[in-house]
Amino acid sequence: MVVEIRAVRTALFLVFLLALLQPCLAAELPRIIAHRGASGYLPEHTLEAHALAHGQNADFIELDIILTKDSKLIVFHDLTLDATTNVHLVYPHRHRADGHWYAMDFTLGELRKLKVGERRTAEGKAVFPGRFPPEVYLYRIATLEEVIAQLRGLNKSSGKKIGLDVEIKDPQFHLQQGMNLSRLVHESLMDDPAILGELPLLVQSFDARCLKYLAHTLQAPYPLVQLLDHVPCPEAGITAITPKDFFLEVSAYAQGIALDHQGLGTSAYFPHFVHQAKKQGLTVDIYTARQDKFPDCYTSFSGMISYLHEVLAVDGIITDFPDSVRAILNRE
Ligand code: G3P
Ligand code: CA
Repeated sequence: MVVEIRAVRTALFLVFLLALLQPCLAAELPRIIAHRGASGYLPEHTLEAHALAHGQNADFIELDIILTKDSKLIVFHDLTLDATTNVHLVYPHRHRADGHWYAMDFTLGELRKLKVGERRTAEGKAVFPGRFPPEVYLYRIATLEEVIAQLRGLNKSSGKKIGLDVEIKDPQFHLQQGMNLSRLVHESLMDDPAILGELPLLVQSFDARCLKYLAHTLQAPYPLVQLLDHVPCPEAGITAITPKDFFLEVSAYAQGIALDHQGLGTSAYFPHFVHQAKKQGLTVDIYTARQDKFPDCYTSFSGMISYLHEVLAVDGIITDFPDSVRAILNRE
């Protein structure tokens, strides 16, 4: 009888313990990666947008890196200055024959004379009409060094440990112009040994050659992420390679993938693809979650975020709205 009571007590205790542990057993929350800073609220890649992302408790801040004429690393998305600066007013005649102003044709000193604003179309309209007013030009182009200095400062003053997700932008285009962007980014991250120990760091690129060069030639000690702008789907005839073989190949040089969320709406193959990547041991981040523009197959932004977390169990969500994604994940 005593033995039976003990057994019942033990069983009850285990049930109670399991109930307590339940939230911990649920899928871990994905890392929230602020895309170009909190770019849903302030012009992308300004120090101000990065500071806001920090205040909104992103886990990482995503940076795009390109080079200036004098080989300085700047945090800027496009190779050209047309869509997010007032370059046409400051340097009206400095465009190339194709009509575009290339950042790499200007020294850092020259670029400092420009003002940065919200992204516009070629016709001058706001790309995201509900965001920061496109006619307000208050900001300036920042260097990688400045962005890192600000992040470290904010980490120190807030006691947080927010990391960097660095994208090497168009390395082949830079190489064609005689500039080894991948090496310069790597050296700049490695030059300061404290960065690796102090800041969570990811380095990503769409260019597999760049990632292989970082992994094999430069022996990069930080995690590398292969960006993919579509699901290489055998069903759609895009490639004959199976996901398993594809991810075997990727895992030889990278630790993760980051996948465009557009595939969520267009490919039934998407969940299988994500599953296969995870099975291969790769992390999966999804870009770019925008509350003002998301795939039609979702009726709400929060529905999409819950699907990414609860059904696909992705490792990261790259978003223009870190505060909203955080709020949705906390509510779940
Ligand atoms: O972080 C992934 C995402 O940034 C890639 O797309 O064009 O915004 O650089 P893009
Ligand atoms: Ca990017």
